[in-house]
Amino acid sequence: MKGKVDVLVGALWGDEGKGKVVDTMGADVDIFVRYQGGANAGHTVTVDGQKIVFNLLPSGMLYPGKLCVLGNGVVVDPEEFLKEVDELHRMRMDRARLAISSNAHVVMPYHKILDCAQEAFRGKGGMIGTTGRGIGPCYADKCARSGVRMEDLLDEVRLRDAVSAVLEEKNLVLTKLYGKNPLPFDEVYEPARDWGKALAPYVEDTVALLNDSFEKGKYILLEGAQGTLMDVDHGTYPYVTSSSTVMGGGFTGTGMSPACVDRVIAVTKGYTTRSSWGPMPTEEKGEVGEYLRDKGAEFGNVTGRPRRCGWLDIVALRYSMRLNGCSAAALMKLNVLSGMDEIKVCVAYDLDGVRTERFPGSAHILAKCRPIFESLRGWDEDISNCDTFESLPAEAQNYVNYIEDHAGAPVKLIGVGPDRNQTINRGL
Ligand code: IMP
Repeated sequence: MKGKVDVLVGALWGDEGKGKVVDTMGADVDIFVRYQGGANAGHTVTVDGQKIVFNLLPSGMLYPGKLCVLGNGVVVDPEEFLKEVDELHRMRMDRARLAISSNAHVVMPYHKILDCAQEAFRGKGGMIGTTGRGIGPCYADKCARSGVRMEDLLDEVRLRDAVSAVLEEKNLVLTKLYGKNPLPFDEVYEPARDWGKALAPYVEDTVALLNDSFEKGKYILLEGAQGTLMDVDHGTYPYVTSSSTVMGGGFTGTGMSPACVDRVIAVTKGYTTRSSWGPMPTEEKGEVGEYLRDKGAEFGNVTGRPRRCGWLDIVALRYSMRLNGCSAAALMKLNVLSGMDEIKVCVAYDLDGVRTERFPGSAHILAKCRPIFESLRGWDEDISNCDTFESLPAEAQNYVNYIEDHAGAPVKLIGVGPDRNQTINRGL
């Protein structure tokens, strides 16, 4: 009996509230899998008023008896992994079993130093504003075939060889190019050897594990981190992260086949945010932006940086729906819009005086796009206790219908507040 695979992606620039959607779907899911990114992500889940943020672990960790997997496409920071596992243990929340792909790459100490050094080297004008978690340098080593994988951590001889092979080059770059101190071999090797001992119980052939589970009828949820517009190929390059955040990353990053997929669900908010540098056509720098940031508590989980806020960008949303082949959308934080007389939606761009409805796959072109808005009536009522679509004010229903019509996918989940039960589920 074949199982079922759903993929969940962030529709725009990340921070859409994927953690909460995973949490809502969680009861039926057997296996939660992260397929890309690393400890640069921040999934927030609020249970019984208690807010829990995972940077590396899948959001399904709070479900008793489930399996959570870090797929081969993830870059694993062992210190962060062990910290999050310990924290869950301390809070008596370590309810799910965990597995890490033996092929996943390890974020090594020099990756983090290089991440920060490269940012400083790019200078103010060229900075990407990375999280400093070593993500880009770790993926660069993966593609350059000089990375350290989880399987290497488990074998002291191979680890010793891998570290000596790579460290000489890294130290040359650190000292000669960036003026940093070299890293002594023992300071890199010894902690890595200890990580291997601590992580050994978790490391597995997750490609076999996932495919076997699928064949046994299990329901698997592939959860993306960041958002579609942060994808290294399809996002607003170079202001992106270094992995494939789109649904396609779910297959290379887990070893599952696209033929297994049942649904692709994109998560968006009722407005747009971006915590990264780079163009954002609907950004509101004045009162509206501040209102959304304050009311939506839009501050980065990892960086603490205030997120840039603005009206919903339907042009970008449609692009994302198409790239991901979405069958449904989840619309989060609709309650943040309560109290606004007017809600604007960007339906097209003005590019050099010409109207276009196409999202450009280039940050340079996007930077020249000016938003063309349509206006909808807002609502005053607090909707945080609404539990059906029909109980929403007519203007809020109208806004949801408008998004469905323009984005091209049904809105199956509506978030009306931070807590687990503050969602309107329309058959997700
Ligand atoms: P990196 O992923 O640390 O290399 O950072 C690259 C860009 O991605 C930076 O602008 C980060 O702010 C952004 N970024 C990374 N992770 C997230 C996330 O989970 N949400 C939103 N932005 C992110």
